[in-house]
Amino acid sequence: MIRHVFVALVALAFSAGLAVAQPKVEKAPIKPTPASDAQGMFFNYCAVCHGGTGVGDGPAASALTKAPADLTRISARNGGQFPEVKVKRYIEGLDEVAAHGTRDMPMWGDLFRSLNRDTAQIRIQALADYLKSIQKP
Ligand code: HEC
Repeated sequence: MIRHVFVALVALAFSAGLAVAQPKVEKAPIKPTPASDAQGMFFNYCAVCHGGTGVGDGPAASALTKAPADLTRISARNGGQFPEVKVKRYIEGLDEVAAHGTRDMPMWGDLFRSLNRDTAQIRIQALADYLKSIQKP
């Protein structure tokens, strides 16, 4: 059975007679990007919400109820320390499951495991390392 895995994408829904395009988050199959390509994963999986530079200005941002976090200031928000474990848990979606919470951000752990069980943690680690590398003071 093919598991249906999804990642948020943006579609611009034009309604007749209206000049404004209403951004809408749609789901699409997750793109298989190599686990070794952290930047490629960021662009394919995260930039739609967090923006290409990670500041939170992706095309889907305005369609979300909660603004995507500025991922270049995670350290700045944590007293200058990059909270690697917390970031990895957040990306994976572990804390959310425990809290029965809902969030706009997909649970990447399940999505990555559906691509390949063996490389899911490698992907999460690579993304955390990538985020660490783009921190601004
Ligand atoms: C559908 C939109 C969406 C996508 C795609 C998305 N995020 Fe997010 N992300 C959010 C939103 C919204 C928040 C803020 C949630 C909140 O504050 O409750 C967030 C928060 C975060 C945080 C927490 C930052 C902090 O300081 O607490 C991290 C880390 C993060 N995202 C990483 C990622 C990574 C890595 C990817 C790609 C694998 C990704 N996000 C893809 C919407 C998204």
